[in-house]
Amino acid sequence: MSTKIKPSTLTSAQTPMGTTPGYMPGFGNDFETEALPGALPQGMNSPQKCNYGLYGEQLSGTAFTAPSHQNERTWCYRIRPSVKHSHRYTKIDLPYWKSAPYIDPDVISLGQYRWDPVPHSERSSTWLTGMRTMTTAGDVNTQVGMASHIYLVTESMKDAYFFSADSELLIVPQEGHLRFCTELGVLDVAPQEIAIIPRGLLYRVEVLDGPARGFVCENYGQKFDLPGRGPIGANCLANRRDFKAPVAAFEDRDAPSTVTIKWCGQFHETKIGHSPLDVVAWHGNYAPYKYDLKNYCPVGAILFDHPDPSIYTVLSAPSGQEGTANIDFVLFRERWMVAEDTFRPPWYHKNIMSELMGNIYGQYDAKPKGFIPGGMSLHNMMIPHGPDKNAFEGASNADLKPHKLDNTMSFMFETRFPQHLTPFAANEAPLQDDYIDCWHDIEKKFDGSSGKK
Ligand SMILES: [Fe+2]
Repeated sequence: MSTKIKPSTLTSAQTPMGTTPGYMPGFGNDFETEALPGALPQGMNSPQKCNYGLYGEQLSGTAFTAPSHQNERTWCYRIRPSVKHSHRYTKIDLPYWKSAPYIDPDVISLGQYRWDPVPHSERSSTWLTGMRTMTTAGDVNTQVGMASHIYLVTESMKDAYFFSADSELLIVPQEGHLRFCTELGVLDVAPQEIAIIPRGLLYRVEVLDGPARGFVCENYGQKFDLPGRGPIGANCLANRRDFKAPVAAFEDRDAPSTVTIKWCGQFHETKIGHSPLDVVAWHGNYAPYKYDLKNYCPVGAILFDHPDPSIYTVLSAPSGQEGTANIDFVLFRERWMVAEDTFRPPWYHKNIMSELMGNIYGQYDAKPKGFIPGGMSLHNMMIPHGPDKNAFEGASNADLKPHKLDNTMSFMFETRFPQHLTPFAANEAPLQDDYIDCWHDIEKKFDGSSGKK
């Protein structure tokens, strides 16, 4: 099934109607962009009268008083101020989109879990109705923790818009192409790319090529940042220049419209008479962005042993405790394996952090079977896991020549908080009941009389 729609109607100077969106390179830069010449005030933020009859408005992504190296805000110059994009609110129900704390007493989250891809449905679904929460962690009200979701989207949002006051969304497409038409411009996102939509930013989602399926990490806490590279130095992993923020784009359209807001885990609607995507120019460092995971430059073992998987971190959202992330987004992609006299796959372990993985494409080295593209796994706080029997035997007896791990791209949402399964994850999603059996045949090999090898 394929769903094609006409291109977005957003207009920008750099991206005439119906063409590919334009982007500006850099991570956390102080960007400036205008869709009409002279729309962006120069040398000041709040002139007495803005050009084109625009209204000036600030969007604050951090407290006014946040340290300057963390302070994020964007000045918008728009057709109507945001107070015109909000009216009285009516509570609505999106029963499959859950927020922490959400602990179902009938669901056991303790254990190792793995799911086949959640299948597409015959029923059409939008970005909002197609969101399925798998796990929640922390507390949305105190702005700590996260949720993981699967999205299944077949239909574009029409005269409908959304923002989450609760969270920043990290989107990892696995099938299909989506277009995020945001207040600050347009992001087209395909599999092997990611998009980040900041807290409070209005947008709608269009399906360019569907049906679309992917993973979402909903970050309740401090924003994602690049991890410190330490002794690695100034280059490799995810480089700043490869992140892309959109150029300004706007629509001047009067039509009955619905804005849905996620706020403290609840959903509300408000009705307005126009598109709220009306920012003609903006400047600042609080913006959506995308990143092509194929640009990720992994660094790893080159003689023996291998580092902790944190070496593959793409983005890290701090928790306030130094070195302990609220969420790490970690990528396992193609790379060479060259370590000598080394068990090369991930070792057996238990972890205070809880690990939710998803397969974007190909085969994961520790689980050659069963963890398939579109599938997910959860190894919760302090629950043991590691290679299955075949992966262990293969890696223990392999001829350790340089070997390229090819055709592989998986990721991990790793959080300091335990993750709780939703009833959907436990009862409706295609849970593999026999997953735990992958370790069943691991043998006792110990022979105390055999001496040193
Ligand atoms: Fe692990």
